Amino acid sequence: MTIKMSAKNVNVFYGTKQAITDVSIDVDQDEVTAFIGPSGCGKSTFLRTLNRMNDTVASAKVTGDIRLDGEDIYAPSMDVVQLRARVGMVFQKPNPFPKSIFENVAYGPRIHGLAANKTDLAEVVEKSLKRAGLWEEVKDRLSESGTALSGGQQQRLCIARAIAVDPEVILMDEPCSALDPIATARIEELIHELKGRYAIVIVTHNMQQAARVSQRTAFFHLGTLVEYGNTSDIFTNPRQERTKDYITGRYG
Ligand SMILES: Nc1ncnc2c1ncn2[C@@H]1O[C@H](COP(=O)(O)OP(=O)(O)OP(=O)(O)O)[C@@H](O)[C@H]1O
Ligand SMILES: [Mg+2]
Repeated sequence: MTIKMSAKNVNVFYGTKQAITDVSIDVDQDEVTAFIGPSGCGKSTFLRTLNRMNDTVASAKVTGDIRLDGEDIYAPSMDVVQLRARVGMVFQKPNPFPKSIFENVAYGPRIHGLAANKTDLAEVVEKSLKRAGLWEEVKDRLSESGTALSGGQQQRLCIARAIAVDPEVILMDEPCSALDPIATARIEELIHELKGRYAIVIVTHNMQQAARVSQRTAFFHLGTLVEYGNTSDIFTNPRQERTKDYITGRYG
C-alpha cells in the first residue's frame, strides 16, 4: 500500500458536540476507499477534514493529525486554496457554476495559473472533459450553460472541474445520490477509469456501490471508525458485530 493521506487520532467538534472521535485511517494512492455507515455517523464530517472544508463551518473544530504525502495539512503554513486543488471535492448535489460548460472547467486552471495561454487552456478543458467522460456529449456546446446539462452530465462536469486543476486526491460525498441508475453506472465506470491516477475516497449509502467501486471500505458508526479493511473482507467476513449488523441491514 502506498499511503497518500494519513489521518491519526482525528476528533471533530461542532461547538461542544463531538461528531468524530479518535479516527485514524490511511488512504491508499492507488485504490478507491469507500466510507459507509448510517446517516449522521460522521462520514461527511470526516471526509471534509481531508481538505479542510470544515474550516468553512464556524463552529467546527478539528484536532489530530492529517497528512498529505507526509505534509501536515493543518500546519499554519499550509495554503488552503492550494490544498483544495490538490484534494478536490465532488458533492452530493451537482453544483456547476452558473457559467458556460467551458468556463466551469477553465475557472480552476485559470486562477491557479495552470495554462500559459488560450490554446493551453482549451487543451486543459478538453483533456479534463475527456477524462470525465463528458467530451463527446458537450464538445459542440461548450458555450452553453453548465446548469443546462442533465444531472448526470452536471456531475461529470463537476468531476471535470475537479480534475482540471490536476488534483492528487478526489473526495466524493454521495456523488450519485441525486442520479438515476444509468447516470450512476456512468459515474461508477468513471471512478474505475480514474482509479490509479488519483487517490479516490467516496462516501456512499449504497452498499452495492461500495462493493462495486472500492477496494477498501471504512465503516463508521456514531462518530467512530468501527472497521477498515479490504472491501471484500468487510462485506463477506466482517470482524465486528456492528459492521455485520449494518451490512446485513439490521440497522441503518
Ligand atoms: N454544520 C454542522 N453544525 C453542527 N452539527 C453538524 C454540522 N454538520 C454535521 N453536524 C452533525 O454532525 C454529525 C455527523 O454529521 P455528518 O453530516 O457528518 O453525517 P453523515 O454520516 O455524513 O450523514 P448522512 O449519511 O446523513 O450524510 C451529525 O450529528 C450532524 O448533525
Ligand atoms: Mg453525509
